[in-house]
Amino acid sequence: MKVNRFSRIGFILAAAGSAVGLGNIWKFPYITGENGGGAFVMVYLLTVVFIGMSIFIAEVVLGSTSHKDAVSTFETLAPEGKKYWKYSGFSFLTGVIILSFYSIVVGWILNYIVIAATKLPSSVSQAETVFLGLLKEDIVSQLIYYTLAFLLISYTISKGVKKGIEKLNNILMPALLIILFVMFIYSMTLDGFKQAFEFMFYPNFEKFHPSSIIIAVGHAFFTLSVGMTTIMTYAASLGKKVNIVKASMMVVTLDTLIAIISGLIIFAIVYSAGQEPSKGPGLVFITLPAIFYEMGSIGNIMAIAFFIALAFASITSAVSVLEPTVMYLVERKGLSRVKATYGISSLFYIFGLFALLSNTNEFGAVLTFGSKNLFDWFDFVTAAILMPIGGIFVAVFVGYIMDKQIVRNALVPYMGERFFHIWLIMIKYVSPIAVFIIMLNETGIIKFA
Ligand code: PHE
Repeated sequence: MKVNRFSRIGFILAAAGSAVGLGNIWKFPYITGENGGGAFVMVYLLTVVFIGMSIFIAEVVLGSTSHKDAVSTFETLAPEGKKYWKYSGFSFLTGVIILSFYSIVVGWILNYIVIAATKLPSSVSQAETVFLGLLKEDIVSQLIYYTLAFLLISYTISKGVKKGIEKLNNILMPALLIILFVMFIYSMTLDGFKQAFEFMFYPNFEKFHPSSIIIAVGHAFFTLSVGMTTIMTYAASLGKKVNIVKASMMVVTLDTLIAIISGLIIFAIVYSAGQEPSKGPGLVFITLPAIFYEMGSIGNIMAIAFFIALAFASITSAVSVLEPTVMYLVERKGLSRVKATYGISSLFYIFGLFALLSNTNEFGAVLTFGSKNLFDWFDFVTAAILMPIGGIFVAVFVGYIMDKQIVRNALVPYMGERFFHIWLIMIKYVSPIAVFIIMLNETGIIKFA
């Protein structure tokens, strides 16, 4: 068993690989654009540090203490009479639901690497036609790339922690960092960089609304991959005794840095082309490709590099959402890793197919229920309901149910009494309440903002 465990750096890269994903490079820049730049960035940083990181650390404590799958983790660490807490371990199912629509987006990105290399759209309106054409009409291309994404992800997980996950992250994460670094240096030479910098760091409260705070908290959760036992499961595969506080801080810092650097790169390019930052979700798939085209041959290279970076970031995240379910099936149900992986991924591949078809003109109508199509429902139910519930389970379990001494022993040697105290306040009061409010708001039960 020991051989199939993460090394220290392997764990950090894998956890960072999980955290750094579409949330950083695609979503963070556009929600920053929509919520007034600097003011939003400030609130986001606060929520990441206080709410996101405290739950992240709690998940690492759980996993690294039990060294078991999520269900067994809750079961072994719950005191006698409270063993029913094991059911909260099933929040790993959130992960496979995420996998089924996240892989669709990974598929688009793989397709965009090809588009970037062959035929970039020459204007924003043409870029829109290309993107909507893929999304709504081109079922075959979507299917091919979606299948490719699923195969890649399943293959990695079937190889196990050391030969699969650690190896993949050891290659893709440094490559991602290098690509972003080079793009960042280049973006600093662009005319729009100063404007991008001002936009990201000078608070503009005009576009900042109370709802921006809620968006920031929700995103802090999503971007750190907490609330679905992913980080817990990775921590369970830690081979050695590691300073878990330092490791967690490194992952959170890296995740935040990459979000900010991505924002600066994208906005520098957008401003240099005289475009506006508040373009919404189409920023990456519509606005950017058109600008890359205008930049000539350097734009071509940038476009390829950018979509490769996006692919690497999203593949390492997608891999991490499958592992908790597979680990559960292997450890509790005695399945072989290969059987567990391909079994569960085939099931959710089919599940995802319906989400894919729900975006198309041909099948959209039958796969739309109420106000949303299936793709949007998967996104909504996981992000607005299941992840927050998973996060609350972790916070309440570590803060109130689990043996206090175990929690203390796991953290005080690494963070000292004073920070432990602050962390405990975050876990017991601030995080669960903040997350609960978000959930009520996002689901529309109560509208605060
Ligand atoms: N953190 C990833 C991102 O920012 C998304 C993710 C969410 C990955 C939940 C795993 C679990 O894109």
